[in-house]
Amino acid sequence: MSTCAVTGASGHLGRLVVEELLARGVAAADVVAIVRTPDKVADLAERGVRVRTADYSSPETLSAAVRGADVLLLVSGNEVGQRVPQHTAVVEAAKAEGVGRVVYTSVLRATETDLALAPEHAATEEVLRASGVPFTLLRNGWYTENYTDRLEQYLATGEIVGAAGTGRIAAATRQDYAEAAVAVLTGEGHENAVYELGGTPFTLADLARVITEVTGTEVVHRDLTAEDLTQELVAAGLDEDTAGFVVSLDVSTAGGALDTDSDDLATLIGRPPTSLVDAVRAARA
Ligand SMILES: NC(=O)c1ccc[n+]([C@@H]2O[C@H](COP(=O)([O-])OP(=O)(O)OC[C@H]3O[C@@H](n4cnc5c(N)ncnc54)[C@H](OP(=O)(O)O)[C@@H]3O)[C@@H](O)[C@H]2O)c1
Repeated sequence: MSTCAVTGASGHLGRLVVEELLARGVAAADVVAIVRTPDKVADLAERGVRVRTADYSSPETLSAAVRGADVLLLVSGNEVGQRVPQHTAVVEAAKAEGVGRVVYTSVLRATETDLALAPEHAATEEVLRASGVPFTLLRNGWYTENYTDRLEQYLATGEIVGAAGTGRIAAATRQDYAEAAVAVLTGEGHENAVYELGGTPFTLADLARVITEVTGTEVVHRDLTAEDLTQELVAAGLDEDTAGFVVSLDVSTAGGALDTDSDDLATLIGRPPTSLVDAVRAARA
């Protein structure tokens, strides 16, 4: 049986991937969960998953962590600004240890989009291509949870405020992306493939309508100019840099950066991605 290693296994997506591997019948002894903080995955260790400790920022910890892996899922880190050297260190360790393939969670159209988060993903993709290690790129779209996690806030204020206009957001749930990751980790024919992953697109007005329908509480979409949104965010306590970053994501969204018509996600998971209605219903429950 081949060994599948997953970084970020203490995070939302990595944990779902490990759970899905086990649910699909992969033996726990063939799964390596790579984490900074083993305590966070003590339950996985109890179930027989091999837990290894490593930090993307400590290259000397990475070789032992990826050793013996036939396939490695590199879940992109969350320390924006640090990620290129961090991910490079993981790729170098994978190469040195002869890992058979590295699967990386990137972002939609990483090399072409104007999304502020994309340059680190594009740089990681380039490092991976240049490494000579076989790879698969999972260019994930937005998580539906980016919105459903704010359901209570939307309901309390009665509005979804943004500057994304009528930009379409092809979001999907982390569970959908996790199942896609498991498909490429355990399946054949994904060497050097690039997948653009997203669900059925919706606008923020669609989101407001769906929330209203599901909950019975009216929520409206209030679209602002980038300048007005920046002012509102700063007035609410965000520093200028953070507000500018958040607003830039909305401006990119308005321009279509989070949209895709690709059916790669549905193809990989063998079913339609979770609908927005179902995601809102689940969040409400
Ligand atoms: N598509 C989207 O909408 C979206 C939204 C947010 C983020 N993302 C990206 O997708 C990734 C996975 O999403 P998620 O929801 O699972 O994020 P998450 O819950 O924040 O998980 C991030 C994981 O990365 C680990 N990590 C961070 N820095 C590390 C380091 N220096 N060394 C080792 N591990 C490190 C974290 O470990 P600890 O548990 O020790 O912190 C955690 O396990 C994020 O990290 C980010 O790159 C995508």
